Amino acid sequence: MADYHISCMPAEAAHYLNLRPGGIYVDGTVGGAGHSRLICTHIQPDGLLIGIDQDLDAIRHARKILAPFHPRVSLHHDSFSHLDRIIHELGLPGVDGILLDLGLSLHQIEGSGRGFSFMRDEPLDMRMDVEAKTTAAHIVNNWHVDDLTRIFRDYGEERRARKIAKVIVQARSQHPLASSKELGDLIYRCTPPAEARKQKIHPATRVFQALRIAVNCELDRLQRTLPRAVACLNPGGRLCVLSFHSLEDRIVKQTFREMARDCHCPPKAPVCTCGGQAQVKLLTRRVVRPSTEEVAANPMARSTRLRAVEKR
Ligand SMILES: C[S@@+](CC[C@H](N)C(=O)[O-])C[C@H]1O[C@@H](n2cnc3c(N)ncnc32)[C@H](O)[C@@H]1O
Repeated sequence: MADYHISCMPAEAAHYLNLRPGGIYVDGTVGGAGHSRLICTHIQPDGLLIGIDQDLDAIRHARKILAPFHPRVSLHHDSFSHLDRIIHELGLPGVDGILLDLGLSLHQIEGSGRGFSFMRDEPLDMRMDVEAKTTAAHIVNNWHVDDLTRIFRDYGEERRARKIAKVIVQARSQHPLASSKELGDLIYRCTPPAEARKQKIHPATRVFQALRIAVNCELDRLQRTLPRAVACLNPGGRLCVLSFHSLEDRIVKQTFREMARDCHCPPKAPVCTCGGQAQVKLLTRRVVRPSTEEVAANPMARSTRLRAVEKR
């Protein structure tokens, strides 16, 4: 794996995580290890970084990049949805901060050979964890047209979901779809030329996003992980999430708001009877976006959104 270490919003992530020497932090999405390395430099000499990634390539790469910080680094090939178990197995009562930098790493897009991009002619795989069962090829070649339509609409916000699903079903009746470029070209060809010209993004972008989310169960895992992550924080500990599209950001925003509310009684209840207490304080009332300087230097950062909470 090449040394991809362009991390999004590093200064903001460091600020909202409140990194300090001796602290214990989790990077739940190690990727190219840019944020992990940043955390390590702030927590020296006796802090601990727990790094998790479901992509074994990322963990192998991080072992090399983070070697100078050994033994203050503990790396795990796992899903961040298991972070509570990992923290428990390390015998830790809690941690001071957790970072989730969602989505794909540059290595996965450009160097993994797993068909994440329609620009490359690669096997239609899209698994972040190559030990997982379902591939994108399995989905496009086997799922019912209604299920394809549903994921393209719900996970890709694709307006032409049914049309594209039908074209895929028609194409696979001739021969199974096997490559990312083949699928990208098929979607491009079934987009009316005037519409394709109007779109700012390639017509296959949303379908590829939808397939990737479905293959890796991304939204379910995120939804399940946020409350577990808060439960693992020490009082005053921080959870900071970087997301890249509105579906992820909506889950983060709504979950954080729910956890920041004291009362969960029905809105029409005259008085509070639940006695609930907020679990977190919102550190970002509005979403935080990258600076114009960062976007100029790294255009891939342009859609990053950061939200953070502090455990009460
Ligand atoms: C945007 S990259 C992280 C980049 C990293 N912050 C850096 O500075 O290089 C996202 C990483 O999260 C990993 N990932 C996504 N979902 C995950 C999950 N549920 N559990 C563990 N890792 C996950 C991906 O495999 C990928 O390596």
